[in-house]
Amino acid sequence: MKLNIAVLPGDGIGPEVTKQSIKVLNAIAMEFNHSFSFKHASVGAVAIKEKGNPLPEETLKLCKQNNAILFGAIGDPKYDNDPSAPVRPEQGLLKLRKELGLFANIRPVKAYDTLLDKSPLKEERIKGTDISIYRELTGGIYFGEKKLNEEGTEASDLCVYSKFEIERITHLAFKAAQSRNKKVTLVDKANVLESSRLWRKIVTQVSKGYQDVTLDFLFVDNAAMQLILNPKQFDVLLTENMFGDILSDEASVIGGSIGLLASASVGEKYALFEPIHGSYPQAKGKGIANPIASILSAAMLLEHFALFKEAELIRKAVEKSLELGITTPDLNSRNPSITTDRVGDFIEDFIINPKDSNINFANIHLGQSTII
Ligand code: IPM
Ligand code: MN
Repeated sequence: MKLNIAVLPGDGIGPEVTKQSIKVLNAIAMEFNHSFSFKHASVGAVAIKEKGNPLPEETLKLCKQNNAILFGAIGDPKYDNDPSAPVRPEQGLLKLRKELGLFANIRPVKAYDTLLDKSPLKEERIKGTDISIYRELTGGIYFGEKKLNEEGTEASDLCVYSKFEIERITHLAFKAAQSRNKKVTLVDKANVLESSRLWRKIVTQVSKGYQDVTLDFLFVDNAAMQLILNPKQFDVLLTENMFGDILSDEASVIGGSIGLLASASVGEKYALFEPIHGSYPQAKGKGIANPIASILSAAMLLEHFALFKEAELIRKAVEKSLELGITTPDLNSRNPSITTDRVGDFIEDFIINPKDSNINFANIHLGQSTII
């Protein structure tokens, strides 16, 4: 298959983790005789610095011309601490999502058996967790009208949802549940918010077309608690934009590190793949950023194009690296010297030659492997 991929590395650790994904995708292309091309463009704080715009026209154009987008991270502390900044890096990502109609953000959350002790949560609670979060991505409070009065003393953000916006992601969530454990949990705040009551009504209507899937409801405050008390009760978790943003960061605690959580943002026409972690500016350039979330996002990209065997091989390689402890310091206090690049190298090498990777494990630890 020929795939043209737009690469938007962005800010902070974005470029270093994205580099590993490209390495891994190139290894897949080689092994399976595909042809993947990569064209880079700037976004976020880097783009503001270079072009005065967090989403330059040429970046948007490139995204529209390619089959898929591999995204790194966005954000810079310079803007976080300046509430009056006229342009912000995050605007680049939000505009991109809106312009490309990426309405469904899919975030898988899994407890890997080999990492159960890395989570602060009790092993018996999290073992076997396998959740797919469906977060609405182009509506709600993120995109509703924003106001600030002239005196700068009163502000508001409107949370708006339409029937159509709720329906289209609900169909995707139910279809996903059909090929999983056949359960959808809608998370909302229907005891308080009108928009949440609309969600309940529409989702209930849509659910009638999926008789094999069970639907239940949870208020978001309770969901936040249930997610760490008993995450195994969830299969597909469907929710609006901001609740999904918050709950998915919370859910990353189950996996042991936010550095493991991948995501796909899909719409009618375009698809973007990005790790859920942010730009982690403190780690930039230090070689300590976990590339696995980005690499697993690349696996989701392949799945999007029905390259299932290829995606499976990436997952197998990632699992092997976790099993062997070839991981960055967030997961590896015993051996904090394993770098971002090294994890990427191991996964790349496993794809090309699985047996060899095992044999070289001892050397990898010593930093003497010929494959690195
Ligand atoms: C995410 C991020 C973004 C969001 C930011 C960077 C705008 O936190 O993708 O989860 O809030 O959606
Ligand atoms: Mn977030």
